[in-house]
Amino acid sequence: MRKFEQLIKERRSTRNFTDELLRQEDVEILLKAALMSPTSKNTTEWSFIVVENKQTLEQLAGCKAHGAAMIGKAPLAIVVCADPFLNDVWIEDAAIASIYIQLQAEDLGLGSCWVQIRNRETKNGSSSEEYVREVLNIPMHMQVLSIIPIGYKAKSRDPFDENKLQWEKIHIDKW
Ligand SMILES: Cc1cc2nc3c(=O)[nH]c(=O)nc-3n(C[C@H](O)[C@H](O)[C@H](O)COP(=O)(O)O)c2cc1C
Repeated sequence: MRKFEQLIKERRSTRNFTDELLRQEDVEILLKAALMSPTSKNTTEWSFIVVENKQTLEQLAGCKAHGAAMIGKAPLAIVVCADPFLNDVWIEDAAIASIYIQLQAEDLGLGSCWVQIRNRETKNGSSSEEYVREVLNIPMHMQVLSIIPIGYKAKSRDPFDENKLQWEKIHIDKW
């Protein structure tokens, strides 16, 4: 099987990380992947915040009632933001950057998980985005799409089973 094909098959969301810190050269490779992700009209309206401070990671874990706790256990997280005033398709661009980071992480032997921030709420019913903005001092005009916690996998997960792919979702020529 080709390398990229294998990578896609093996990437599964990682929610359990070891305590091992990332190598700084790997952090740089992850950020380069984000900065090489394509944007509509080449607007590059995204920005990324790299968080390694343990206390800040623990604070970020409180951004949602469910599905964000693993941020507090990760050695690093990348917060994906974008400027909606620069591009009306900032969501698509920030989403592509998020998945580029995840695929690059997998290629480095690291695990990651997408934590949805946009349109989500904290346990008190306030905006997750506002919560993250406050913790990280993000300017008002910037939107926060996702947080990607990254680290060494504490548990391995099964790759995709090709026999279970939903081929019925594929339509040929017409729906
Ligand atoms: C847009 C998007 C938002 C997601 N949000 C969360 C989240 O907030 N918390 C979480 O634990 N996983 C989140 N995930 C991970 C999905 O639950 C996961 O990708 C899906 O269950 C498939 O599993 P796999 O990634 O292991 O193949 C998100 C994934 C995507 C693509």
